[in-house]
Amino acid sequence: MRTAVYPGSFDPITLGHLDIIHRSRAVADRLIIGILANPRKDPTFSLEERVQQVRKSVAGMKHVRVQTFDGLLVNFAKHVSADVIVRGLRAMSDFEFEFQMSLMNRRLRPESETVFLISAEPWTYLSSSAIKEIVRFGGSVRGLVPPHVEEDLRRKLRLVPDSLRSI
Ligand code: PNS
Repeated sequence: MRTAVYPGSFDPITLGHLDIIHRSRAVADRLIIGILANPRKDPTFSLEERVQQVRKSVAGMKHVRVQTFDGLLVNFAKHVSADVIVRGLRAMSDFEFEFQMSLMNRRLRPESETVFLISAEPWTYLSSSAIKEIVRFGGSVRGLVPPHVEEDLRRKLRLVPDSLRSI
């Protein structure tokens, strides 16, 4: 039984994250989604909101569990007995940060192996920060995040539904 951890801020979860969660079956029998409690950037959604969004998004996926963590990722991985860390790669621009992070994590805990999964093409230009910017400026993110996250974004950013828009 191989356990992997998929860490991130998930602020909010997107269909790109869900694509990686589905793909993780290729490398692990059990996936623990680790939601970082205090990401470097001030999160738009509280930890509780992000947990609810992720739980709702993965409801029914038997191999997936959702937990929160604080502090070092490798300590969390050890705590949940995961030797694999899953990260998604969208484009070369992700590589430098991911490369640095995986080597640092290996130094901190050599038993942790980082496995990179390549996002499906439609998600290669998708990021949580782009999603928030689009919603803030009134654009539609339909088909890029789960519908319940789209609603949360509208509510959080105090926008009216598309159906009530005049343009
Ligand atoms: O979704 P993100 O913001 O790209 O996820 C980044 C995350 C949570 C994977 C990374 O910031 C992390 O692991 N933070 C925990 C602190 C840690 O272990 N830092 C050392 C890595 S070099």
